[in-house]
Amino acid sequence: MRTSALSGLTTALIAALWASEIIAASASDKTPQIHTLPPLQEQADIVNSWTEERKALIPGLLRKYGIDAWLMSQREYAEDTVFWALKDAVQFSARRRTTHLFLASPKNGAKNAYSWIDNTAGVWEDLRNLFAEQQPRNIALNTHPEIAFASGLHAGELDTISSALGDEWADRFTLEPMLPVEVVATMVPSRLPWYRRMQETAWAIIEEAFSEKVIVPGETTALDLEWWMREKIQSLNYTTWFQPGVYILTAEGFPLKKERTASRSELRASADRPIQYGDLIHTDFGVTALGLNTDTQHLGYVLYPGETEADIPKGMIEGLKKANRLQDIVKANMKIGWNGNKILKASLAQMRDEGIEGKIYCHPTGEWGHSAGTVIGMTNLQDGVPILGEMPLLKDTYYSIELYAEHFVPERNQTLFFPQEEDVYWDANTESWEWVYGRQEKFLLISTPAEDASKSPSEL
Ligand SMILES: *[C@@H]1O[C@H](CO)[C@@H](O)[C@H](O)[C@H]1NC(C)=O
Ligand SMILES: *[C@@H]1O[C@H](CO)[C@@H](O)[C@H](O)[C@H]1NC(C)=O
Repeated sequence: MRTSALSGLTTALIAALWASEIIAASASDKTPQIHTLPPLQEQADIVNSWTEERKALIPGLLRKYGIDAWLMSQREYAEDTVFWALKDAVQFSARRRTTHLFLASPKNGAKNAYSWIDNTAGVWEDLRNLFAEQQPRNIALNTHPEIAFASGLHAGELDTISSALGDEWADRFTLEPMLPVEVVATMVPSRLPWYRRMQETAWAIIEEAFSEKVIVPGETTALDLEWWMREKIQSLNYTTWFQPGVYILTAEGFPLKKERTASRSELRASADRPIQYGDLIHTDFGVTALGLNTDTQHLGYVLYPGETEADIPKGMIEGLKKANRLQDIVKANMKIGWNGNKILKASLAQMRDEGIEGKIYCHPTGEWGHSAGTVIGMTNLQDGVPILGEMPLLKDTYYSIELYAEHFVPERNQTLFFPQEEDVYWDANTESWEWVYGRQEKFLLISTPAEDASKSPSEL
């Protein structure tokens, strides 16, 4: 195993390994561009075609999990989580009672999929007739106690279904959490070109935010930048799934350290302090469009006036390299069929063998920001994640590789955290996880011309 083979290597050799991997990983000097979205009607057509591809996979997934029938039912505004992954682009909620039935292997010319939008008992009569004819041995319902994507059936609706269908069918109700999880997790290949454009757009917004175009050292605060990013998203007709986060990283200030005890506002004590020369800055940023969500964390460094890339403290460059190495470790351990906890354990062991300290907390992404599928660690659960970490890793899906490496920066006499987050997709051709757009290997730089050094910050 690679883990034990590496454990004997000297620190120097490991450092050399990092360096060679960094060079090998084609230094991504491309400048990310913003992609604007097509007109709304065209967007609806694009999303509907992806949804149809997803729906076409359902009968095969039912057979894979040994399920004959899958029933989903919901009232307006009390939708099953999976409803959102299957709805038409011009549906904004369920209406009346909206009921979906999927059959694995329909007999007598029946269809694979049925839908009702009804407010009468007619739907139950139709269902009983269909079941009488099709005789499903089991009927899956989304009733898992912990997994959100497998637990969308509302408790009241379950009562209604059970009494309306009667014991004959209620006795065949079953639970297969991996069925809804895989339906939601599966990202059909035709989504990738747009997902890549969205990813590039997120990179481009971060690159603009973390530049001298937007940051005036001594004036601009982290909070100013967060709202600048929100406005930028709005101006592009995108939306987002979480408030952008901008943080000035100091030995005391990394948000994860305090997150379990502090509220967001307490954490953001530094959010009002202006960004200064020499600051290491960090963002956690995502965009939403076309029913897709991205999740990225990048780092920036504020050069002193007249400084260039060559003046970034070497300790910081080494810190980012460590984070990049940890990304490689996790990506290589993300073996299809392993569960999240096994991937976490193997990755942490390899991380420690290579002399890196850090944390790993990766999650599926795409359909939702935190989407369906196994998780690989959480910030407060580095020994394994109950239930969510016990599912097998699926292919044909997207993941956010989210982590940080710690590194002692001699120039600061401090150990700093180097967080990174980058989205990957499963490439069926190479049978491996690939970056959707790329990964950060160089700091975003905020530079100030030397002549401005004489001015006070407020004049800049
Ligand atoms: C945003 O939408 C408006 C209204 O449809 C349109 O005029 C504008 O060009 C769009 N902007 C971008 C950047 O796509
Ligand atoms: C570095 O920090 C440590 C404590 O964190 C302190 O004891 C030491 O004096 C510092 N060294 C310098 C050169 O400032």
